[in-house]
Amino acid sequence: MAFNLHAILACPARIGVAASLHALVSCAALSVVATCMSTLCMLSLCMLALAPRAHAQTTFADAHPVFVARCSGCHAVVGFGGFNIAYPDPVSAYTDAQAPSYYSPGQTKGYASVVRMLDGTMPMNGGCTGNPALDAGNPLCATAGELAIVQAWIAEGQLPPLAMTGTSFCSGHQDPTPCPCGNAGLPSAGCAHAANELGARLVGRGSASLAQDGLVLEATRLPASSALFIQGDAAAGTGQGQVFGDGLLCVTTNVVRLRTRTPIAGTARHPAPGDAPLSVQVQAPGSVKHYQVLFRNAANYCTASTWNGTNGLRVTWTP
Ligand code: HEC
Repeated sequence: MAFNLHAILACPARIGVAASLHALVSCAALSVVATCMSTLCMLSLCMLALAPRAHAQTTFADAHPVFVARCSGCHAVVGFGGFNIAYPDPVSAYTDAQAPSYYSPGQTKGYASVVRMLDGTMPMNGGCTGNPALDAGNPLCATAGELAIVQAWIAEGQLPPLAMTGTSFCSGHQDPTPCPCGNAGLPSAGCAHAANELGARLVGRGSASLAQDGLVLEATRLPASSALFIQGDAAAGTGQGQVFGDGLLCVTTNVVRLRTRTPIAGTARHPAPGDAPLSVQVQAPGSVKHYQVLFRNAANYCTASTWNGTNGLRVTWTP
């Protein structure tokens, strides 16, 4: 694999578009100069090249929670290095992440952040090597899953946090219903599962309007099994969900099974072209609907049962 991060970013057609692995490879093949020659750096770039493309669009909404988890001590308020990539508000954090870097000249601070996570110089004094296998026992260091997300964010063009529709609830972080084995994922995600310790995540994109329904539900970080999209009129367990397999059931009351899908590279969307729009299941403007994706996970994890779910997503439909 002879392509690298610089080559990917230098290829303008890749910036800001959903880049397929094939496109990245063919793009990078055109780039002849490896701009980064140190052994350590080559290793990092190689890891980047091999990082899984989790789904079509990795935005800063995906990467931001990783920086919050790993870098807050010095890049949330104090602004070491001249930026706060872990600022709690993702829009402000993204703005800082797009400032020019001194560590990786000609690149953004967001780019340099990923380089430094991989070369082991950040989090500073954290004792991390950037190799998740070696860093496994150190709670300060990024996990393999977290590194994959931030690398995908860079490789797919450092997209801003896109406008999302709906509000996440029931992530297993709050009492009285934490995840059944203390297996909370990231905030705004479902409980951790055997295939992804960050937990599967459900977001909505597009307009939740009855007259102009463009809403698409998108679940990511799913295991390779079937994923069931459901809708309910109410949030289960007063919003915190109720224990369900290895995770939580987030929706209740008039539950409708919308569709079962097979995730592709961990991602499943509904509706797909040709499907009925979500609004056919909505009675009137002002209806509040609660969505979740449940999935089977055969691997033995947490409890003996084989079910888990994403976070819940609450959407208010407008006229
Ligand atoms: C304990 C404090 C501390 C933590 C935690 C920390 N940093 Fe830093 N960071 C610093 C300091 C101090 C500097 C300035 C000195 C330097 O660049 O080495 C810095 C500088 C940087 C720079 C250079 C900015 C530029 O313009 O090139 C990047 C990138 C960076 N940090 C990324 C991160 C990331 C990503 C994390 C989390 C994974 C992180 N840091 C966690 C202290 C920290």
